[in-house]
Amino acid sequence: MDKLVINGGKPLYGSIDISGAKNAAVAIVPATIMSSKGVCVIDNIPDIEDVRCLERILTSLGCKVNKVGNTITIDSTVINGTDAITHDMQNMRASYYLIGALLGRFGKAKVVLPGGCPIGDRPIDQHIKGFEALGAVVKIEGDTVIVTADKLIGTSVYFDVVSVGATINVMLAATLAEGTTILENSAKEPHVVDVANFLNSMGANIKGAGTDVIRIVGVIELTGCDYSVIPDQIEAGTFMLAAAGCGGEVIVNNVIPKHLESITAKLEEMGAQVLQEGESVTVKSNGRLKAVNIKTLPYPGFPTDAQQPMSAILVIAKGKSVINESIYESRMMHVDELKKMGAKIEVEGRIATIEGVEKLTGAKVHATDLRAGAALIIAGLIAEGVTEIKDIEHIDRGYLNIEEKFRILGADIKRVTE
Ligand code: EPU
Repeated sequence: MDKLVINGGKPLYGSIDISGAKNAAVAIVPATIMSSKGVCVIDNIPDIEDVRCLERILTSLGCKVNKVGNTITIDSTVINGTDAITHDMQNMRASYYLIGALLGRFGKAKVVLPGGCPIGDRPIDQHIKGFEALGAVVKIEGDTVIVTADKLIGTSVYFDVVSVGATINVMLAATLAEGTTILENSAKEPHVVDVANFLNSMGANIKGAGTDVIRIVGVIELTGCDYSVIPDQIEAGTFMLAAAGCGGEVIVNNVIPKHLESITAKLEEMGAQVLQEGESVTVKSNGRLKAVNIKTLPYPGFPTDAQQPMSAILVIAKGKSVINESIYESRMMHVDELKKMGAKIEVEGRIATIEGVEKLTGAKVHATDLRAGAALIIAGLIAEGVTEIKDIEHIDRGYLNIEEKFRILGADIKRVTE
């Protein structure tokens, strides 16, 4: 079992490079299943546990997977199964993309229901609604989803909630359906656009990704392609927030500044300086921040995945901040851990009220989920004294070399194997 040990209280200086986007990569890797001709070569793949998990699942289905550095080559023409009944399926959320990909290519899929971070009820009813609208029959037996279709026929789907997963999953299946599919009230996140661009590189005909109406004209087959994954919006946001909270000057490279606008706007409101130049953002801060209110919303609103890291800097901001977590019902498990470090936070349902304190003090804490872990790293870097973070396997699911990147910025952080 590894833990992170942080000796905090130091400003951050220097520059780091952001890796490929987790939530794009975890959809693009399963989407390679849909190529019946030629291999997919995908660059800027983050070597994180969630991606490794998908590599194992694809290998178990017979795909040939080879990763060198951050480039992965996947040959799915040789796939020999549509049953993804492995333990790995329950270790992550994005395993549900196996359903859309297998259904699209083979008209059937048998997969174990997905797992992922414990942040509240995470139904897949909108995914199922889309598959059924395309003509599939969906059965849930115990913890297994069985989907079959004689033929997928293009249709209109109006999503009842804005869902990243449902938008991507139904888009995958519709890509190889007969006729045109219109997805309304679609998610607009950058990774939805990235997956659509990837599918178009494979020969799909998808227009409108990034707006709430996506139009997919089904094609007969998809082929291999070369592709590069977009930079990770949330990893970039995590480093920007850390720089603002610790103080110092940090250049965050290999980003798309447009994707960071909601985080940038809040940091400026708090008194930090954010400069955008080409593919970089620089965050300058003296560590003395003003309280602000946050409401998480689908893109382009403030991302729920940055809510917990943001709360780690609001706890030392001057004044009272209110966080309204509108996406997930229980994404507040980090609060008890922050309180161990001296934070003053009251939680009622999805609302957290934070009274800024002068300083945080190092403590022994647990990463209850991925972004809770990121929040605790930021808090540990801000706090005086030593912070020990356990259960960091959650962090490894979604951040590549996070402690090494913080060390480049001058942080005193190390991984210790117990
Ligand atoms: N929802 C439904 N029915 C559905 C699907 C979703 O009610 O069929 C609800 C959810 O319960 C939630 C809301 O809709 O309240 C949004 O969920 P969404 O489907 O957008 O989330 P997801 O696809 O399960 C992805 C990311 C999450 C990120 C959310 C929101 C992946 C693998 N996961 O999850 O990432 O929080 O979108 O942007 O892409 C993370 O990276 O830490 C993470 C949790």
